[in-house]
Amino acid sequence: MIIHRPPFIIHHFPSLSSTNDQLKATGDAPEFTCVVADEQTAGRGRRMRTWHSSPGDGLYLSVLLLPRIDSFSKLPLTGLWAAISVAETLIERGVAGVDIKWPNDVMVNDRKISGVLAEAVSAGSEPLRIILGVGVNLNHRSFPTELSSTATSLAIETGERVPVEEFRDQLLAKIGQWYELWRRDESASIVSRWERLSSYARGQQVVVAIDNEKLVGVTEGLTETGALRLVVDKGDVRTILVGEVTRLRKSAKFSG
Ligand code: BTN
Repeated sequence: MIIHRPPFIIHHFPSLSSTNDQLKATGDAPEFTCVVADEQTAGRGRRMRTWHSSPGDGLYLSVLLLPRIDSFSKLPLTGLWAAISVAETLIERGVAGVDIKWPNDVMVNDRKISGVLAEAVSAGSEPLRIILGVGVNLNHRSFPTELSSTATSLAIETGERVPVEEFRDQLLAKIGQWYELWRRDESASIVSRWERLSSYARGQQVVVAIDNEKLVGVTEGLTETGALRLVVDKGDVRTILVGEVTRLRKSAKFSG
């Protein structure tokens, strides 16, 4: 089924292995082509993890972006503005306790509700293709044991089910707005909005796992390309490009 939500063209499937993989395999699709599935049988997360994608419970969405960018340095901001889009959609729907864990995990009351898998494909002189994959837990009433203490859903948080298409369209509108800002090089707006939405942005003691190394420090905002600034021993500042962040102690009450 094809649904038009300008500028987005949504291809809806009852079941796919992964919406990112389906979109990647769709040769020369136009910009803003989206793939959505009611369920994924092999939903993928970052770091080779799987994404729990039970039928009808979540939004499993991939969007094709074909930006003409002159510098690859702004690419990492994609995940950040995608997470901002999800966080703002949740807030507009009245969800309390929304937070973003660096770089792009959307959390509610310290449990993960959404993740972003942005994959860039660049072949020779062809324009850069970004496959922006977003998973949002909407109507799950429970999760498999291994996720039960770390995941949440909109229904668990609010007690109400949400039509997946309604959330999809609201989120796509946000994605359209933030993509436009990113295209116009409004990096500072993206960084400052992310910092306002995240309790991890400043003054949070964290441990960052980077391959086999573990760094402990206190966060000090983001660089203009979205890297995390971490104050470590003796006040040295490390710039983190990739890594898994864990909170070491609760920050004072976060007001967003
Ligand atoms: C993460 O937090 O690890 C990222 C999860 C991304 C999941 C989404 S669901 C839609 C799209 N298709 C996939 O296979 N993965 C992304």
